[in-house]
Amino acid sequence: MTAPAIVATGISRTYELDGVSVPALRGVSLTIEPADYVAIVGTSGSGKSTLMHLLGGLDRPSGGTLLIGGRDVSTLNPAEMAKLRNETIGFVFQSFHLLSRTTARDNVALPLVYRGAGRRERRERATAMLERVGLAHRLDHRPNQMSGGEQQRVAIARALVTDPSVLLADEPTGNLDSATGQSVLALLESLNDDGVAVVLVTHDREVAARAQRQIVMKDGVIVQ
Ligand SMILES: Nc1ncnc2c1ncn2[C@@H]1O[C@H](COP(=O)(O)OP(=O)(O)O)[C@@H](O)[C@H]1O
Ligand SMILES: [Mg+2]
Repeated sequence: MTAPAIVATGISRTYELDGVSVPALRGVSLTIEPADYVAIVGTSGSGKSTLMHLLGGLDRPSGGTLLIGGRDVSTLNPAEMAKLRNETIGFVFQSFHLLSRTTARDNVALPLVYRGAGRRERRERATAMLERVGLAHRLDHRPNQMSGGEQQRVAIARALVTDPSVLLADEPTGNLDSATGQSVLALLESLNDDGVAVVLVTHDREVAARAQRQIVMKDGVIVQ
């Protein structure tokens, strides 16, 4: 038996905005198993991104218990959180979040800098990962020289270069046309076949139906 990748128990997140409390997440329990494939759907504002940020260790819960890679995040300081994130989680955003003046290869290599990998190892691993996502011919292109689909593939390669056990993708096809979106989804599915747990936020019911499990969110809770 392998331990779950992520275990959330009754987690909540309340934002404080101009003295007003916004309860974005109100008690969510969820377990992500190794090699899981989970789709999260729900209307805009239902708390999907808030949940993804917590699962990815980009933010901390206001309440409840969250274990990432078996470690209770409430016991970790910011440096320990960053290290856990770097070792366990890959994150892909709707708007790619690439460095615009940096080549595809250097964008992908960046997470390895924080790991202290040497220059040669960084280049080799970044190159191999760009080959894996079908971009062997774009190593030295910068993001503004690539299509949206190519940029999202670079972002996926960057998320995977550290060999994470979980890939979190928050509406990764939201800025892509449907054909390009399909090819990015096919890539996520093939990564899942290779044993990476995938958690995907999507608006597309057909896409969600292809996951092993679907979670429907509404008003900060899981309703189904
Ligand atoms: N940084 C923030 N500060 C204040 N309120 C926020 C912040 N981020 C999100 N919210 C609010 O929390 C709720 C959930 O947002 P979000 O998780 O982004 O939903 P979704 O991704 O499902 O559209 C919304 O009401 C949103 O306005
Ligand atoms: Mg969102």
